[in-house]
Amino acid sequence: MDENLLIEFDDFLENIDNIPSLKPVPTKILKLLKDENTDVKNLAELISKDPSLAANILKYANSSFFGFKQKITSIPQIISLIGIREIKKLTLIYAIKSRVEKDLKGYGLTGKQIWKHSLSAAIGAQFLAQLKGIYPTENAFTSGLLVDIGKIVLNDFIIKRNIKSIKDRENIYKFHKIEREFFGIDHSEIAALLLEKWDFPEEIIISIRYHHRPSESPKYKKLTSVLHIADLVSTASIFELDVNDYETTIDSFALKSLKIKFYDLKELVDLMIEEIENAEKEFF
Ligand SMILES: [Fe+2]
Repeated sequence: MDENLLIEFDDFLENIDNIPSLKPVPTKILKLLKDENTDVKNLAELISKDPSLAANILKYANSSFFGFKQKITSIPQIISLIGIREIKKLTLIYAIKSRVEKDLKGYGLTGKQIWKHSLSAAIGAQFLAQLKGIYPTENAFTSGLLVDIGKIVLNDFIIKRNIKSIKDRENIYKFHKIEREFFGIDHSEIAALLLEKWDFPEEIIISIRYHHRPSESPKYKKLTSVLHIADLVSTASIFELDVNDYETTIDSFALKSLKIKFYDLKELVDLMIEEIENAEKEFF
């Protein structure tokens, strides 16, 4: 690393420190949900301490997605009807949305596009993890939600350096390479540093750190491969890109590690996009 890069690296770390942690109630809920035998009463009490979270969960439970005939009005009722796993997912969505949904002018992306990318990568990753038996599938969902959080830190530096090539749609699959060229580090590494600070589980940190180079991942190669593919499929679906563009971009290691034949890819991608579009209707 040359001297300029080292100075900038200190600035990256300072920027990471300036990003506030997730809100306290969702953080406590996520900790509580690590235990399989979570007490429903404790969970309901905790959710009720964050009125905005409780309202979001109520809204979702009453949506057409679940199709319950009667109106659901209490948190304990929701927990027993939709289950702990769904509650965990909704809490994560709520906790992460406010951190991720920000315009990133350096990248030429709106907050809505960034959030849509996070959510669709999460849904796609969970779908693929389920299909390939990589459990618990919540890890894939969480990794998808956080896949590009490092861009929030790098955005300021991209604006400062006036790096225009990163906004070019032609370079949409090469963000990370341009970042490395200019900063010696990319958004996946920055995200991993941020998530270490937030005390996230190792498999989520590693899958995000290596999502652009799954073959180099020291552990959790299948989860990393799932995230790699879901990230590309989500990008392609948001920007309506041709399927052939990312067929050439997907790392063959990821396909091999998940035992996906190249000629099955188009069908798999279509299924993932369908799953993403169905689930997204509930969140937008
Ligand atoms: Fe990425």
